[in-house]
Amino acid sequence: MVAETLAHLLGRGAPRNPDRDSLDAWGKALGAVLPRPTVITLEGDLGTGKTTLARALCAGLGVLALDAVTSPTFSLVQQYAAPRGPIVHVDLYRLKGPSDLEALGWDELVDQSPVLLVEWPDRAAKMLPSDTIGISLAHDPDHPGRRLLKVHAPRGGVR
Ligand SMILES: Nc1ncnc2c1ncn2[C@@H]1O[C@H](COP(=O)(O)OP(=O)(O)O)[C@@H](O)[C@H]1O
Ligand SMILES: [Mg+2]
Repeated sequence: MVAETLAHLLGRGAPRNPDRDSLDAWGKALGAVLPRPTVITLEGDLGTGKTTLARALCAGLGVLALDAVTSPTFSLVQQYAAPRGPIVHVDLYRLKGPSDLEALGWDELVDQSPVLLVEWPDRAAKMLPSDTIGISLAHDPDHPGRRLLKVHAPRGGVR
């Protein structure tokens, strides 16, 4: 049942052109059915809603201190307590190359985080696990309050 809900939310159940409320509702529903371990990438320009969606996912994952879910642009890595293990949230925007990734302890983050949320994942490109759930957000030129959402569910299914 959970697996079906997950597949639906990653497929036809994903809103293509959500306003803030529907992005939030989708993120909460998705967070509630995520398997562990899971890596989710959030890509998109500044202000497209990566952190807004991260917060919704965290709400669904049971994080209570939602105010703590902010862009980890300067801290690079933030961690939030959740009932079934911590959520790790990283922002790779300021990384310059693979050696920065190593300094961040990337392999450990991927191996040891029950749920890993990654903003600006292009910096990690080939270092992402193959079963990563990829989410991209873009501004909608016609509707300032809406976004264009795309989901790339892993071919072999989620873990
Ligand atoms: N449909 C929408 N989806 C997500 N955010 C939206 C939407 N419409 C307006 N917004 C606003 O856009 C901003 C997105 O900011 P944020 O989540 O910090 O973006 P990012 O992390 O991608 O830089 C928030 O102020 C949010 O309220
Ligand atoms: Mg952000």
